[in-house]
Amino acid sequence: MYSSHIRCPELFDRIVSPEQAAGLIRDGMTVGMSGFTRAGEAMAVPLALAERAGREEIRITLMTGASLGHDLDSTLASRHVLARRLPFQSDAGLRKAINAGEVMFIDQHLSETVEQLRTRQIPPVDIAIVEAVAITREGGIVPTTSVGNSASFAILADKVIVEVNLDANPALEGLHDIYIPTHRPRRLPIPLIEPGDRIGTPYIPIPPEKIAAIVVTHKHDSFSPVLPPDDDTKAIAAHLMRFLEGEVAVGRLTERLQPLQAGIGTIANAVLHGFIDSPFRDLTMYSEVLQDSTFELFDCGKLLFASGSSMTLSEEMNARVMPNLDAYKDRLVLRPQEISNHPEVVRRLGIIAINTALEFDIYGNVNSTHVGGTHMMNGIGGSGDFARNSYMSIFVTKSIARKGAISSVVPMVSHVDHTEHDVDVLITECGLADLRGLAPRERAEKIIANCVHPSYRDLLSDYYQRALARGGQTPHLIEEALSWHAALRERGTMRPEEDVTDALRMKSA
Ligand code: COA
Repeated sequence: MYSSHIRCPELFDRIVSPEQAAGLIRDGMTVGMSGFTRAGEAMAVPLALAERAGREEIRITLMTGASLGHDLDSTLASRHVLARRLPFQSDAGLRKAINAGEVMFIDQHLSETVEQLRTRQIPPVDIAIVEAVAITREGGIVPTTSVGNSASFAILADKVIVEVNLDANPALEGLHDIYIPTHRPRRLPIPLIEPGDRIGTPYIPIPPEKIAAIVVTHKHDSFSPVLPPDDDTKAIAAHLMRFLEGEVAVGRLTERLQPLQAGIGTIANAVLHGFIDSPFRDLTMYSEVLQDSTFELFDCGKLLFASGSSMTLSEEMNARVMPNLDAYKDRLVLRPQEISNHPEVVRRLGIIAINTALEFDIYGNVNSTHVGGTHMMNGIGGSGDFARNSYMSIFVTKSIARKGAISSVVPMVSHVDHTEHDVDVLITECGLADLRGLAPRERAEKIIANCVHPSYRDLLSDYYQRALARGGQTPHLIEEALSWHAALRERGTMRPEEDVTDALRMKSA
C-alpha cells in the first residue's frame, strides 16, 4: 500500500503508530528532529510524546534545524517536555518558557550544531526523527520541504524514526543535495563553486537497519505568517537598490550582482521583493530560507537559481508553487544547513548578505536577538554565518518599533550578535549608511545622519557629541549608554521625558 513511498521492503514491518514510535524516547534523551523555519518538521511523534508527558515525567534535549511550525514548540513547552532546546526557535509559547528560565535555550550559529555533534563537543543524539517524502530501496531518506540538520542527525543518531508524509508532494524528490564534510585531519574543501552545483546525494544515506520505526502521516507545513511589503520596507528596499546601482556604476559589481542571501522574517522578505522592479538581472540566491520573494523573483524572470535549506511559503504562494514544483525544480536545490551556511562556501561565493537587526548602535554593532538586552526573541539563526563571511554584510531594520516607543538605533546595543567588524551597510527607511572603510567616529556620523528616525535624531546626536568630549577610539558615556533601554523598561518608551533627560545629563556632566 505504501510501496511508492517506502521502497525498501524489509522496512514494512517497522511501520508503527506515533505512540509506539514515541515510546522509543526516554526521559533525559537527546532528540534530533527535522524542521527548519516551519518547513518539513516531524509532527506525529513529537505530539504523541507531548501527550505521553501528560501522564509521566519526560524531559528531553530537542535539537532541530531551526524553528518548527504547527505550534509544536509551544505544545512541547507547555507539557514541560523541553529541558534544553537548540539551535533556533520563533515560537511565542517557547519564547515565554525560555525567558522564564524553564527551558535552557542554546542560541547557535546554524552552521555549527552538527559540527559540534560530529566532534562530540555537545552530547550525542540518541534518536533522530525525520519527516520524509520517501524511503529509497537502499533505505535512504528523502526529506520534504527542508533539509536543515536532518542528514547529520540521522547519520549520527543511534536510532532513526521516519515520518513518511503521504501528503508531501512527490515532486520534492530530487530537490535535495546531501553533502557531509569529510573527517579531519585533511578534511577536503567543499567542492561547491556555484550556487547551483550539486555535490551530494538526493537522499540521506543511512543503513536501513538504523531505521527503528516508521510512522505514516498526512500533513502540510504551516504557512509562513510573513506580511507583504509596507511603505517602510519599500523605502528600505529602494535605498538598497539605489546603493547597489551605485556599486554597478563604479564597476565593483555587475548587474548580476553576487549571490544573494536574505534573512528570515517580514522585513528581509519585503526587501528581497525590491529586486523585482530593479535593473538587476540573472540573479542567484545562496541562502538559508527560501521565502515567497524567491518565487516572485523566479516568476518575474529576475532569478536564475536559488539554493537554500528550506522552503517556507505563505498559503497563497504555497498554492502557486507546490502544484507546479516540477517547473521550478531545475532552478532549486535544498542543502543541509551546514552547507547552505558554511563559512567556506559563503566566502568563496562572495555573498551579499541581507539580514535583519532588532537594533543597532551608533558604531554599527547589531543586536538581532535580545529585546531590551535580556529577553530572547528568536535567535541568531544563520545571520552570523553569513554576516561574518560575506562579500558584503547588510543589516536592515525599521528605524522605530512599537509605534515609536522604541528607537532601533541606540547609543549602545543592549546585546551584541554582530560586532561592528561584521557590518558593512546599515539601512532603515530613513536612509543608508555605507560603513565600509570607516573608523568608529566616521561610522557614528554616517549612521546618525542617515538611519535614525527624526524623532530620535537630535537626542542621539546630542549623546554622541557629549561622548566625543570624553575621547576614545569608540567614544561613549558609559553610565548613559544603556539609559534608553532603562527608560523603555521603566516607562515603556525610549522617548525622552524632560526630568529623565535632565537627570542623565547631570550624571554625565
Ligand atoms: N526592540 C524591541 N523589539 C523590536 C525592535 C527593537 N528595537 N525592533 C523590532 N522589534 C519587534 C517588533 O515590534 C516585532 O514585535 P511583535 O512580533 O511583537 O510585533 C518583532 O520585533 C519582529 O519585528 P518585525 O518588524 O515584524 O520584523 P521581522 O519579522 O522581519 O523580524 C527579527 C525581525 C530581527 C526578529 C528577525 O529577522 C530575526 O529573528 N532575526 C534573527 C535571525 C536571523 O537573522 N536569521 C537570518 C538568517 S536566515
